[in-house]
Amino acid sequence: MTAVGIDAIEIWTGNLKLDLPGTFAPEKGEDPEKYTKGLGLNASSFPDSYEDIVTMGANAAHRLMERKGLEPDDIGRIDVATESAFDNSKPVSTYVAGCLEQVFEGDFHHANKGERKFACIAGTQSLDDAYNWIRAGRNRGRSALVIATDTALYARGDAGEATQGAGAVAMLISEDPNLVELSAEQGYGSADETDFLKPNQQFPSVDGKRSVQVYLARMREALEDYESVAGDVHEEDFAYAPFHTPFPGMVRKAALLAYRHVIRDTSLEDDLADEIGRQPRPEAFDTDDDYRDALREYMDLLKETEAYQEWYAETIDPTLSISREVGNWYTGSVHVARASALKHALENGRDMTGKALLVASYGSGAQAEIHSEVVREGWEDEIEALNVDEQLEDRYDMSWDDYEEVHDVHNHDMDVDVEEFTTPESEFVFDGWGRMGERK
Ligand code: HMG
Repeated sequence: MTAVGIDAIEIWTGNLKLDLPGTFAPEKGEDPEKYTKGLGLNASSFPDSYEDIVTMGANAAHRLMERKGLEPDDIGRIDVATESAFDNSKPVSTYVAGCLEQVFEGDFHHANKGERKFACIAGTQSLDDAYNWIRAGRNRGRSALVIATDTALYARGDAGEATQGAGAVAMLISEDPNLVELSAEQGYGSADETDFLKPNQQFPSVDGKRSVQVYLARMREALEDYESVAGDVHEEDFAYAPFHTPFPGMVRKAALLAYRHVIRDTSLEDDLADEIGRQPRPEAFDTDDDYRDALREYMDLLKETEAYQEWYAETIDPTLSISREVGNWYTGSVHVARASALKHALENGRDMTGKALLVASYGSGAQAEIHSEVVREGWEDEIEALNVDEQLEDRYDMSWDDYEEVHDVHNHDMDVDVEEFTTPESEFVFDGWGRMGERK
């Protein structure tokens, strides 16, 4: 069977930067280490006044198509995954196609276009749709363009404000791909939850603490479901495990939980149980609280073991390096984590061809999905072509006043005139809601 997967990716960051320890923490009167150590974030990417989900998505897709020498006729499908859409009818992919038609010969009139919504997991769902479309033989030899684009903004003063971010990831899904082959097996954990939602509102209503618990619960279910179709997962099976990363501290919790599940090492568990003087199993406890306390103690000890720390340093930590500098990109976040891992491998001379990744996606509302990927021979060239370091370096570092001003520009309830801001050359720039980004 011909391999189907991601042939190429491009990452486009919002052009502004908010420094969390340097600018955000002093303004909030918080210890900078709450952000750098607690949440694991140094900075967030922020959209400039002339950027929105369309322009960032189109800029990423433009760079990808140009680099791969593609024309519109090579693309049979454009799906945009976003939870920052501004239109309940017309999909963002039509705006993106309109942008791209300004610069490429031909048009996308024969490409199927859509928009996927399920919070952050929609990016992975769009990948799945593209995979299924190709596997079903409906692609006529063409590739799919999947674009995950979001302005992950929170109301000022919301607990989520420190985790904001903005950026797009464009991915080309093809037969015989250069980067990774997607597995046919998937595991899901899905339930009706209301801890994070945006019912006809721009900024989310969030019960942040609960959202962390829901993420962990659904992820555990997805892992168990994945194992029911793909067989047991062991810690040494995967070179990296990119997780959806709202902030790196969240992945620290999810990784520990996943590790505890996959090691299945009852001797270690028994040793640790001896150390804490109790058996961390529900039947041994009178109340749920007793059990929870024991489990917390057990997890704290597990976290300190050399085996866990080595596994975390090798398999998880490298997935977080871009996220630390950009914050949450919602639909793009897990795809940034994959890129981060492969970039780490390239920079450290690690041969990844044929190695497996365990990819753990998540979206509030809530659903987790786990699948595996196998890295393909062309991965080095694809990762080498990314210019993410330069993009991050080139961001404009905002003062607190700049931040408040630009946040207001992006607040749909406020009437700020965007025309008064300068716009760059050679990028698609935003020129009003419901209008296509124009290439200056
Ligand atoms: P908070 O109240 O700002 O922070 O909210 P906190 O007080 O819970 O502290 C955060 C961590 O920093 C804690 O670590 C503290 O101990 C530590 P933990 O105990 O959790 O390991 N800390 C410090 N560490 C070192 N030095 C210090 C210090 N002070 C504190 N001085 C919260 C955190 C996550 C609730 C908030 O950021 C939030 O509401 N975020 C938005 C929701 C979110 O991101 N949820 C994540 C799961 S849901 C998800 O991923 C889906 C999502 O992407 C949306 C979608 O799918 O569409 C969000």
